[in-house]
Amino acid sequence: MGLLIKNGTVVTAEKTFAADVLIEAETIREVRAGIPVEPAHEVVDASGMLLLPGGIDAHTHLDMPFGGTTSSDDFETGTRAAAIGGTTTIVDFAIQARGTRMRDALDTWWKKAESKACIDYGLHMIVTDLPEAGLEDMDEMVHEGVASFKLFMAYPNVLMVDDATIFRALQQTSRNGALICMHAENGSVIDVIVRQALAEGKTAPVYHALTRPTLAEAEAVHRAIAMAEMAGVPIYIVHLSSEDALNQVREARDRGLPAFAETCPQYLLLSIDKMNLPGFESAKYVFTPPLREKENLPKLWDGLRTDHLQVVSTDHCPFCFEDQKALGREDFTKIPNGGPGIENRLQLLHHHGVGAGKITLNRFVEIVSTAPARIFGMYPQKGTIAPGSDADIAVWDPKAKHLISAKTHHMRVDYSMFEGFEVTGNARQVFSRGELIVKGGEYVGRVGRGQYLRRAARGGAWQ
Ligand code: URP
Ligand code: ZN
Ligand code: ZN
Repeated sequence: MGLLIKNGTVVTAEKTFAADVLIEAETIREVRAGIPVEPAHEVVDASGMLLLPGGIDAHTHLDMPFGGTTSSDDFETGTRAAAIGGTTTIVDFAIQARGTRMRDALDTWWKKAESKACIDYGLHMIVTDLPEAGLEDMDEMVHEGVASFKLFMAYPNVLMVDDATIFRALQQTSRNGALICMHAENGSVIDVIVRQALAEGKTAPVYHALTRPTLAEAEAVHRAIAMAEMAGVPIYIVHLSSEDALNQVREARDRGLPAFAETCPQYLLLSIDKMNLPGFESAKYVFTPPLREKENLPKLWDGLRTDHLQVVSTDHCPFCFEDQKALGREDFTKIPNGGPGIENRLQLLHHHGVGAGKITLNRFVEIVSTAPARIFGMYPQKGTIAPGSDADIAVWDPKAKHLISAKTHHMRVDYSMFEGFEVTGNARQVFSRGELIVKGGEYVGRVGRGQYLRRAARGGAWQ
């Protein structure tokens, strides 16, 4: 029995062409116009539809303990919402607790995901300390398909590690082929500014943004890239938010260094204006790095167009406004950092990127699927529509209108950062490894069907 998607327009990072797609079991067998229908085929008509490789969100935080609480989407609700928005793979983060082995964290995160994930998932490992044995732990993780590690230059006393730790981790990746993902903000400087603000009675959410200058981001991006250059390895900057930081990546890439970076829809579409809402409303937009002055937005779009930025991920880290963000009503430092977005990434990028003429359709596919697959060791199993690849396909209606709202979204969070945004372009059906999992805007697959992805340690080998 094969599944034949007829009459669609296939979009890859390289080209757009009319073709049928034949799927057998979980894999794409053929991609060409005029594949004959046979009695054993189940046929799906995709006339007028684009066939996109399923989206890959390389930065999510599901069921993550953080800021005195836990992100409100678990692997079931989060991956279901992702699927509805056309994303068929995520890479989430396991967290090594200080003083413990990375294996413990990996086991914990596998348990969180295994009976719940609705789509395929990989894991990065957040490294919080690195004794000598930690270097072996990194190799063991790579062996388990954890081909990337996140380190924090921010959040002192919580997640932040010092430069020696960062440098040793970078050096270890020259031996094991993994990729270091960097949260690049100068946490020590920010901590001083934050303490001064609190001492002056500045406790409202807006001070989260005002105490984290773009220069603190740019300095850390510069330092991270310089350390990667000294170690002779690639580096990937996560959730890059500002022109100042982008300039550092541009300078490095223009010198031929393998420096990669992602941004997120919130930095492309929202500005610091959201931090001046009445009452406590701006807490909805407290995440790190913070929203920036609006002059940064077109610069980030330029960065995507010119490939100084390679990826758009969501950094989905939802906390409910009523009972979680509220932890910081009296003190912005106690507001759990993070925002929701896993469901809306493709819709927003398609509408505001392709629809607005800022990026081509092929670049859109590259940014939301192909580049993360390549950088994080999943290509060509994921990230393209080609014979031999997993049959992860979003049947995309480029004309469908959709109103983004917390009233209708599927994420387990009581607000949307993009409330009231009207977008054109949405997933009509979604296939994951050949199985129909989304139809008519609803998830129709089995909970727990998602599989752990063992990723190859070649991150960053591709530029
Ligand atoms: O505010 C954010 N970004 N929360 C999630 C943790 C992180 O730094 O990515
Ligand atoms: Zn981060
Ligand atoms: Zn994050």
